[in-house]
Amino acid sequence: MRKPFVAGNWKMNTDSQSSVTLARGVAEGSVESAGRNVDVAVCPPFVYLQSVARAVSSSSVAVGAQDVYFEKKGAFTGEVSAAMLKEIGCTYALCGHSERRHVLGETDELVNKKVTAAIAGGLLPILCVGELQSQRESGRTEEVVTRHVTKGLAGLSGAKVSAVTVAYEPVWAIGTGLTATPAQAQEVHALIRKLLGDLYDNETAEATRILYGGSVKPDNAAELMSQRDIDGVLVGGASLKVEDFLGIIQAAV
Ligand code: PGA
Repeated sequence: MRKPFVAGNWKMNTDSQSSVTLARGVAEGSVESAGRNVDVAVCPPFVYLQSVARAVSSSSVAVGAQDVYFEKKGAFTGEVSAAMLKEIGCTYALCGHSERRHVLGETDELVNKKVTAAIAGGLLPILCVGELQSQRESGRTEEVVTRHVTKGLAGLSGAKVSAVTVAYEPVWAIGTGLTATPAQAQEVHALIRKLLGDLYDNETAEATRILYGGSVKPDNAAELMSQRDIDGVLVGGASLKVEDFLGIIQAAV
């Protein structure tokens, strides 16, 4: 039985004060549900990771980074290593979020290095995959998602892959208010689970959590998560409001 997982991706939002207020609100509001029935994580901007980690430290809310670099240390201006993130209390790291793929030009090869480095550094990567609207319209969803997952996990053993969460986020649904229907999302989740079975084995496929992301709100979260292969959600906009995020956590319980 896969435990539901709700993660909030704050993107480039909040400030030093509001990040801590938001984190505290999530920690206090999810006391009953977080940990026992559902795993909860928040992913603030790098600069607020440490203060947010402190703010949630006595709760079961975990902290994730929105990105991680694949080298351990050295002359990589502006980058942050897995060890640095781990040291300040991060548990998770998003890898290959569509905004990084499409705005910053991250390739599958780079994403794979980040996933691999995150695991080596003791973090749990959340590998984000998903097609553009034009790719869906031209019938290429399966091809794109298969490539993102296969290349994103390249070289990882079954044991290593147990650290990975996959997040299916159709790019056309991110920040647009256009959510994939539960049936559309379930179809791709089932495809990803089958692919994990082909790449690894049935046990790995059944154990791996696959989240849906893209305009998840309190009023659509429950129906999405009721689908067989949707094990939780990765939430952008609605994770910036305590009540909305708590509503989504509640829908996962
Ligand atoms: P959204 O973002 O919920 O605002 O659509 C989701 C994401 O990008 O992870």
